[in-house]
Order: sequence, then C-alpha cells, then structure tokens
Amino acid sequence: MAIIVIVGGQWGDEGKGRIIDLLAEKAKVVARFSGGDNAGHTVINPYGEFRLHLVPSGIFYPQVTCIIGSNVAINPAVLLEEMDDLENHGVDISRLFISDRAHLIMPYHTLLDGLEEERRGKGAIGTTLRGIGPVFADKVARLGIRAGDLLDKGVLLNRLKSVLELKNTILTKVYQVSPLSLEEIYQQHCHYGEQLAPLIRETSSLIGEAATKGEPVLLEGAQGALLDPDFGTYPYVTSSSPLAAAGCIGAGLGPRQIDRVVGIFKTYNTRVGAGPMPTELKDEIGDLIRNRAHEYGATTGRPRRCGWFDAVAGRFSVQINGLSDIALTHLDIYDGFPSIKICTAYKFNDEVLTSFPSDIAILEKCQPVYEELDGWQESISGIRNFEKLPTGARNYMSQLEDLLSCPISLVSVGPDRRQIILVKDFFS
Ligand code: IMO
Ligand code: MG
Repeated sequence: MAIIVIVGGQWGDEGKGRIIDLLAEKAKVVARFSGGDNAGHTVINPYGEFRLHLVPSGIFYPQVTCIIGSNVAINPAVLLEEMDDLENHGVDISRLFISDRAHLIMPYHTLLDGLEEERRGKGAIGTTLRGIGPVFADKVARLGIRAGDLLDKGVLLNRLKSVLELKNTILTKVYQVSPLSLEEIYQQHCHYGEQLAPLIRETSSLIGEAATKGEPVLLEGAQGALLDPDFGTYPYVTSSSPLAAAGCIGAGLGPRQIDRVVGIFKTYNTRVGAGPMPTELKDEIGDLIRNRAHEYGATTGRPRRCGWFDAVAGRFSVQINGLSDIALTHLDIYDGFPSIKICTAYKFNDEVLTSFPSDIAILEKCQPVYEELDGWQESISGIRNFEKLPTGARNYMSQLEDLLSCPISLVSVGPDRRQIILVKDFFS
C-alpha cells in the first residue's frame, strides 16, 4: 500500500538506521537510494549493534528484499566486509541485491578525495575521505565504472584502461604522487566481481513490481537535507542528493508513486566536518549533548558539533523534502535539562531572517534567535505512550510541530529498537 521515503532532515546522523530498522518490520522492500559508505547507519537490535555503511537497514527481517540502488556509490571492499560482518552475526543476507547501474568507488577515488582535501587546506570540507566527491564527479563526467561492469572481465578491463590512464595523469602531473597499477586494480576487481556477481542485477523492476502489488516499500536516504549539493550549505555538502525527490531517481520510481515522506530529525542539531552551523554550542551544554548521546561519527569517529534545534533550517528541510511526517530521535538526551532552547529565526546584521539563506557567507554571520522552553526532570526512556510523556517533553514536541508545520509521528526515547513512541501507524 505504502511507499515511504525516509530522509535525514538535518546534517546527517539523525538516526535513520534505527527508524528504518523499526519500520522495516512491515516492509517488503528496503532500498538505499543515495550516498555511499560516507553514511553510517547505526542499528541496535537482537542481532547486535551495527554501523551499516551500504547495506540497507532492513536487512534484519527475513521478508525484506534489500536493494542498493543505482545512485549509491559502492566501494566493493567495504560492502564485502559489511556482508561478512552481518553473516558472522547470524543475519541472513540472501535477499540483498545491488543495482547494476550503481557506480563503484575505485582506489583512485578514495586517493583523490584525500589529495583534494589536502589541496583545499584551510578550506577543507572535512569529507569522510571515502571517495564520494570524486566518484559522483566521474558519474556525471561519464567516466564511471558501474557494478554491472564487474560482470564482464573484458568490459571491465577496457573501461578501467581508459579511465585509469586519465586518473594516473592527474595523480602524477597534478598531485605528483605515484600512479596506480592497472593490473592490480583489474585483478582485485575481477575478484570482487566473482564474489558480488550473484547480487548484481537490474533492481528498479524489483521495486516496481512491489509497488504494483501494493507491497510496503521503504526508500532509505543517507546524509541529510542540509548536505544536499543544490539546497545545502554549498560547498560544504556531499555529492549526491539526500532529498526525498532523489528517492524516486535512486529507486526508479516516479513522484506520484510516493505515499509518505518521513524526515528524521534529532531533538538537537549536529554536524560533522566544516561549514556553517548557526546553533553550534562550543560550551558545556554542547559537550553534555555530545557525551550523553555519544555524538562521534559512525564512519570516521570524529566528534560531532552539537547545538540547539535549528527550526529555521528545519522548516527549510520540511519544504524541500515535502515532508508528511517527522520522526524525532534522541528526545531522552534532554532529560534533566532545566530549560531547552529552539532557534526560531536568525539575526543577520539588523535584519531578522526566518528563512534559510542560500549563501553561506550570510549563514556564517547569522546569530540564532532563541525561544526558551521549560525542560523536564524525569527519565523518559521507559515511556512507550505519548500521553505519559512529561508536560515539558510534550510541549517541546508541539512547539517543534508548530514551527516546522509538520506532525511528529514517531519519537525515540533510547537507542534500542523498542524505545519508541509511535504516535501514528506508518503503513495505514
Ligand atoms: P549519514 O547517512 C553526517 C558529511 C561529511 C562532510 C560532508 C562531505 O550517516 O547521515 P563526503 O564524504 O560525503 O564528501 O563529505 O558531508 N557527511 C555526513 N555527515 N552523516 C552522514 O551520513 C554524512 N555523509 C557525509 O562529514 O562534512
Ligand atoms: Mg553519519
């Protein structure tokens, strides 16, 4: 019945993995639609604790077909390692498929990501160094190698030969580093191809068939709206679109087929890497949030920048994603806070801005305008019913709903699969 797109509403790390792990219980297909192994989707369930970088977070349910879609950049070594780890934990991965159209992150992509960051010096983006920028640049420049190319060694060799010649010229002439060996990369990828061949196929038909039958499908986004190359804080963004509209492209569906768009928001804001973040707290409250919520990157281990909820950015995210629902995560992190702030506008020179600026030179100078709410003193991690939440927590949620003009349908009050308050049934 329902095709639901699930996206990050902020700068990534909102808890997409845990929400998808929860909703996937009723799904038939879960498809990752963007990013690559820059994503780190944390899932804690009876199988253990996982940080999924490429495998869709629906993998833990036997009835779910999991698809890595065409707009996901795949590093085969990372994928194989992740598959091994899941199998070692007793997870059945026999329903995992990879789009033959998905582009591969090659050794020169990761190498160039690091070299480009070094070249940027002080202006470094703080990328995850996974080769994301270079792989998506190659996709658009028509220089990519796709998962399907692994199925034919002759095709792979020809493609690699011509691309590597160019990459080696750039590596040696521009960056003055050693060239990469064609033979080594070719052999390595023949080996990956042999291992991954059973998974590689045309995948849009799998999703299309499920859609036609009315089976529940979840489209799993990566990163967050504010890292979108068009609408995010350019150039401090990622290189594939994390927005709901990209869910259609990554899955091979049209916009009319989407029933719901769920935006995941953390109760506060975080950001990893460089770029403006108006509500960042460089004080003990920021440290308290970071320590309580273990706000360290799932992919790189970097400490995340933490701050109060930014409702200006949040409203923008609701708009550009066309959200129908919000899933609010980590509400319990505010337990015991005497008061809680929400940024409702920005002050820029003498102006008050209520919409998110497109120019980071402006955003960098924006001062948050805060509204302060009473907190709550009790622990909410054991609560499973919205009505039982303390008044402070309900008021906070209702204020967010008003500011963002979007209903909160689900709240997480702890990291475990069951620590959830479901306000609405997502598949009804
Ligand atoms: P999930 O799916 C948080 C950030 C990086 C950097 C910028 C560009 O776990 O929410 P890239 O390696 O993509 O070229 O880096 O984007 N970034 C993320 N931040 N969560 C993510 O994914 C991210 N993926 C990329 O930190 O600032
Ligand atoms: Mg992350």
